[in-house]
Amino acid sequence: MTDQTHPAHSSFSSSPAAGEGSDDAVVSRRADVDPSDAASKRVFVRTYGCQMNVYDSDRMAEVLGPQGYRTTDTMDDADLVILNTCHIREKAAEKVYSELGRIRKLKDERGPEGKPLMVGVAGCVAQAEGREIARRAPVVDMVFGPQSYHRLPDLIARAARGESVVETEFEIDEKFDALSRQAERPTVRRAPSAFLTVQEGCDKFCTFCVVPYTRGAEVSRPLAQILREAEQLAAGGVREITLLGQNVNAWHGEGADGRPWGLGRLLRRLAEIPGLDRLRYTTSHPRDMDDDLIAAHADLRELMPYLHLPVQSGSDRILAAMNRKHTRDDYFRLIERIREAAPGLALSGDFIVGFPGETDADFADTLDLVRRVEYAACFSFKYSQRPGTPGATMADQVPEEVKTARLIELQALLTEQQQAFNRSRIGMRMEVLFEKIGRMPGQITGKSPWLQPVQVEAPQDMIGSIQTVEIVGLGSNSLFGRLVAGHNDRAAASGAVSKEDAI
Ligand code: 5AD
Ligand code: SF4
Repeated sequence: MTDQTHPAHSSFSSSPAAGEGSDDAVVSRRADVDPSDAASKRVFVRTYGCQMNVYDSDRMAEVLGPQGYRTTDTMDDADLVILNTCHIREKAAEKVYSELGRIRKLKDERGPEGKPLMVGVAGCVAQAEGREIARRAPVVDMVFGPQSYHRLPDLIARAARGESVVETEFEIDEKFDALSRQAERPTVRRAPSAFLTVQEGCDKFCTFCVVPYTRGAEVSRPLAQILREAEQLAAGGVREITLLGQNVNAWHGEGADGRPWGLGRLLRRLAEIPGLDRLRYTTSHPRDMDDDLIAAHADLRELMPYLHLPVQSGSDRILAAMNRKHTRDDYFRLIERIREAAPGLALSGDFIVGFPGETDADFADTLDLVRRVEYAACFSFKYSQRPGTPGATMADQVPEEVKTARLIELQALLTEQQQAFNRSRIGMRMEVLFEKIGRMPGQITGKSPWLQPVQVEAPQDMIGSIQTVEIVGLGSNSLFGRLVAGHNDRAAASGAVSKEDAI
């Protein structure tokens, strides 16, 4: 995936501070399917949107492994194509329909004698549009919502019998159970950084947002399941886990002693797992940042100093119309407390411009808020009317050209702030988790504690390790660094991973 896929529930630009005009993050996944499988069929999964979808796509590929499916990077040789969709903005759904048009062509080209092609549409567009998708795009054999992918083998069998399958029930507990069974598979070597879904759905009902309708009510995954999956990931060599949820800091669970746990407590427990050196969580709602979670940022070395905390608007009037349940001052006060607890922490956020009724003065409040907060990276969008949400029918919709002008102005400011933040890292020593081969020969790429890609000349066997790096320069979207001698992560060199070994 791209390093800058939007953290949650959306279809996004591939770089922060980019908006509607830029391409949504569309990521094709190769998942961890056991290569020893005598697989004869190929599945191509195209993922639109957020990291939760990336996570779901990986799990789909895992479910299909034992069914004889291997992942493929091209649609051309696929027996099964799955589009894992995002519904947050209009364009996302339209992109799915135009992709379905291309798939129909591919199927036509193969002809009746050629290799059969089965087509599934998953995710939030599937959830929202249901049977309408199969009606509008008859090439589709299966439509299934975000809670149904673990039933894929059954859905495929039904589609193979000629049934037009539509599965959009909310059976979230069943999905979580299935996830846990999957996590108990024998340990496979994994990429150094992984996602772990701990929560799905949202009860906040911001008036612009479809998530409460497509992903349903807020449900937390049980603690024991999360711990099992985290341990499994760590055993597979994962050094960094990002906890995912549409409203992740609303996560709540029950400890072994029957006591209620919040996200802060969960993070403290996860930090005890040997090998897990980095923890992140996303996306948070300002209302759910409780004291213990803020204290966790002060206490846990493992909790990375970077927080995605969307505010959406800087105007109290618009925040109220958006049903955000907080004011701009609440947000300022919260950030002050977080920065007091964790002075080096950097913030990112999401903004919507042109929400119904937004005046020039409201927009000026947003710019003012951005100037006061100073973000490290942000995503910003023009408001898009989502059917079924209260915002869609509000009076005073803002004209497109006003939205565009505001977005350009906001993004210029956000880009400036992002560049300033990146510049401030020059000369700094930081720990970098190396994840993959770099762009240039001899380089490997890692991630800074603040989620910036860092390019370093270093041997490939350092991939999977955490090293101290000094930042020596800036690229357009990444930092350049050099290894600081004598700060080797012995854990990676020996293949074993332990807290003591890691720096
Ligand atoms: N129009 C524009 N942006 C939206 N987002 C969510 N719904 C809409 C919409 N209708 C943005 C918000 C949210 C992010 C995931 O997507 O900024 O935080
Ligand atoms: Fe949507 Fe608001 Fe819930 Fe985020 S908090 S998922 S923006 S309703």
